[in-house]
Amino acid sequence: MSEEEKRLIVTKIKDGTVIDHIDAGRALYVLKILGITGEEDFTIAVVMNVESKRMGRKDIVKLEKMELRKEQVDEIALIAPNATINIIRNYRVVKKYKVDVPKVIEGLINCINPNCITNQKREPVRSTFLVKSLRPLILICKYCGEEIHHEDIIRQLTGV
Ligand code: CTP
Ligand code: ZN
Repeated sequence: MSEEEKRLIVTKIKDGTVIDHIDAGRALYVLKILGITGEEDFTIAVVMNVESKRMGRKDIVKLEKMELRKEQVDEIALIAPNATINIIRNYRVVKKYKVDVPKVIEGLINCINPNCITNQKREPVRSTFLVKSLRPLILICKYCGEEIHHEDIIRQLTGV
């Protein structure tokens, strides 16, 4: 496919956020955690399975007019650890950064060990995970040492 043809599939946006380098197949999960339903009054472009030099195939989400909060970017990192966030103003990329999996993940994911202190009704302890491995993503419960793997993390965050 020529560069021109590629550009026609993915037109540039004027103002907003482009989430690029999402692992192929995960764009819909990213929309889900951002709470995007398609009923918004701004344009949303979702491009799935496009060729990427770096990743083989990748997904891209373009959100016109929308900027992301830090907590949203952290959740995107847990879904798509290779993603790049591009802030667009007047057609230009004015800021570009890679998402970063937070070192400590608090209150976002439940420990899957039913005996963990974070799952005891009488002991209201906030779930806390540390990063055991980045690729593949594996988190480890600070309290009981239980591991949680990427598919389960995604399942919990998106509720699918
Ligand atoms: N983009 C866009 N609208 C703009 C500018 C950029 O939708 N007005 C998109 C591009 O299509 C691309 C992403 O934002 O998906 C990043 O743009 P750019 O930095 O120009 O592309 P690359 O150099 O290919 O980025 P990288 O080096 O991060 O792969
Ligand atoms: Zn635990």
